[in-house]
Amino acid sequence: MRPAIRVRTPQEIRTARRPRRHRCWGHLVAAALWPMHDANLGTLLRTCDAVGACLAVPPFRWVDDALARGNTLRQPACVHRVGSPLPWLADERRAGAAILGVELADEAVRLADLPAARRRTVMVLGHEATGIPPEALDLLDGAVEIPMIGTGSSLNVAVAGSLVLYRLAGLL
Ligand SMILES: C[S@@+](CC[C@H](N)C(=O)[O-])C[C@H]1O[C@@H](n2cnc3c(N)ncnc32)[C@H](O)[C@@H]1O
Repeated sequence: MRPAIRVRTPQEIRTARRPRRHRCWGHLVAAALWPMHDANLGTLLRTCDAVGACLAVPPFRWVDDALARGNTLRQPACVHRVGSPLPWLADERRAGAAILGVELADEAVRLADLPAARRRTVMVLGHEATGIPPEALDLLDGAVEIPMIGTGSSLNVAVAGSLVLYRLAGLL
């Protein structure tokens, strides 16, 4: 007979979790530099917290409001404001970070073949309607694509970013 499945309580989950100090601007950064829909920012913030990543966003008032609404975490989340996306990405690259685009691109590796990040990695997400701007594509070290077999042409950006973050964090 199959053992009954018991869902852990929030208290049990918190107690069992390994205490892990989040190092700001550490290993993983999710860069949502051209956001359009506020709900996606809250979803990304939750995933960043789950995998120990920072979230980089533009310094817009509506973005702050969206994050405040979407942040249902107990701890303050690690959010950084990036004024000029392209110079920031170039600086990150010069400083040794891997710049990985999440995009449907010819040269992209498939998600299942993406190794966990072994060095600082900035995961770049595209605009919800137009994708990663062409000028930013030139700054990428590589890209990852999530294979799709359905009728839609792309995934929701927060879903795509969350899947890739889990993979980069080595948790999937
Ligand atoms: C809704 S899609 C953008 C639409 C599409 N690029 C276009 O120009 O019509 C928003 C972003 O989600 C990410 N994304 C969505 N589906 C993806 C997939 N299957 N693989 C990789 N990235 C994806 C990419 O970062 C993309 O730029």
